[in-house]
Amino acid sequence: MNILHAASEVFPFVKTGGLGDVLGSLPKALNKQGANVRVILPLYENIPRVLLQNAKRIAEFTVQVGWRSQYCGILQVEQDDVTYYLIDNEQYFKRSGLYGYEDDAERFAFFNRAVLDGLPLIGFEPDVIHVHDWQAAMIPVLLKTQYAHLPAYQGIQTVLTVHNLKYQGTFSKEMMMDVFGLGLEYFGGDQLEMNDGGSFLKGGLLYADKITTVSKTYADEIQTPFYGEQMDSLLRYRSHDLTGIVNGIDYDLYDPMQDPHLFMRYRDAISKKRQNKLVLQERFELLQDEGIPVISIVTRFVQQKGLDLIAHVLPELMQLDAQFVIVGTGEYQYEQLFRQASEQYPDRISAQIIFDDSLARQVYAASDLFLMPSLFEPCGIGQLIAMRYRCVPIVRETGGLRDTVLPYNEFTSEGTGFTFANYNAHDMLYTIGRAIQLYKYDHQAWGNILSNIKKNDYSWRKSAQKYMDLYEELQRKTAVAV
Ligand code: GLC
Repeated sequence: MNILHAASEVFPFVKTGGLGDVLGSLPKALNKQGANVRVILPLYENIPRVLLQNAKRIAEFTVQVGWRSQYCGILQVEQDDVTYYLIDNEQYFKRSGLYGYEDDAERFAFFNRAVLDGLPLIGFEPDVIHVHDWQAAMIPVLLKTQYAHLPAYQGIQTVLTVHNLKYQGTFSKEMMMDVFGLGLEYFGGDQLEMNDGGSFLKGGLLYADKITTVSKTYADEIQTPFYGEQMDSLLRYRSHDLTGIVNGIDYDLYDPMQDPHLFMRYRDAISKKRQNKLVLQERFELLQDEGIPVISIVTRFVQQKGLDLIAHVLPELMQLDAQFVIVGTGEYQYEQLFRQASEQYPDRISAQIIFDDSLARQVYAASDLFLMPSLFEPCGIGQLIAMRYRCVPIVRETGGLRDTVLPYNEFTSEGTGFTFANYNAHDMLYTIGRAIQLYKYDHQAWGNILSNIKKNDYSWRKSAQKYMDLYEELQRKTAVAV
């Protein structure tokens, strides 16, 4: 089975969030299950050139972006048993950063079309094109409209995975018509229209053969108005083709037993884990004391992550007998919130306003609890890494957080963390307080939680199998159609 994944972020080439992590690990896991998975992405300026040392330019051709004829090169490179294709066009991708340019519609229209136009030239015939998020979501639309009559594209099935419904790639209708060469009839309310413009993501939601999102709960949530980002009725309409498959993490990449960034490596020996904590406390000028729980937050600073809840009860949080360590960057208001808090309460909170993978790992290894109170969370990866590093998550029961963290039950001793249901700062505060109590005074319960965490498997194994089932279902569909 040949599967081509198309996405705008793929670790280790380029990543700004969880999308890049998934594309960096899922293809490997699928190949282990016997698929032949390849990945295609734009050749951004940011991609470290060392990763391209052995890349070969395998195709050069011209892509029509509306009336424009644009150069397109395709580089091929192998890494860890996966073949990657990188789409080269300097006008579109030789810039710093990935998104946020005036001509993003044109840049990603080019990317979507280049993926399809490149297919006959790269020597890979996919049974399924699996596209991710809005940046690749127009591929199913183009395939079913402008490429439908071409023999080379017959029988190709498409899957769209939504990693975050909030980002929809909406541009003016004029712009969309111009860059895709699609007529006005494609921009009615039952077509790509969104807030008077046209949306890449909506196109994918309408035209992809199957839609997946990154947890079962999020798949249900987005069919309701609160989480649906104005797409809920469309998602209800497509509910028969919509499934939730929870993300995994790469267990080799995230392994406290192998992680070279850690002061002390460990797996289940909590005494060793605590060595990491003492080092971190010293480094961040917090009181060095094993008995005080360290609560970490590692995240992008955006509203989605529930940081408003923290802002709302900050003074109360600072009264708790715990130390907070924050790592991340993002919106200015949240950076300021944490900066000011660490100035005001230097013995309670340390804020590291940077995006640094090795520091993040050190913090997961050093902390006892991991806080992720998201407003919504399609899957969430932080809580999975936290558990792998034997750091107990405190989460709000939404999306993938709800599906991956089971609340600790004192009567049955089941559960892998602490959870609260409502988006309410005092519910969060109470839950954190309870976690601290357990950490300090109920060692038996704490031991139970850690041993439950140890029994869980959040590697890709099970979820990769679910994607394989989905691909097989699509293949049967083509077989019947032929
Ligand atoms: C997005 C979502 C996050 C998810 C990730 C990977 O970043 O916000 O919840 O884990 O995509 O699917």
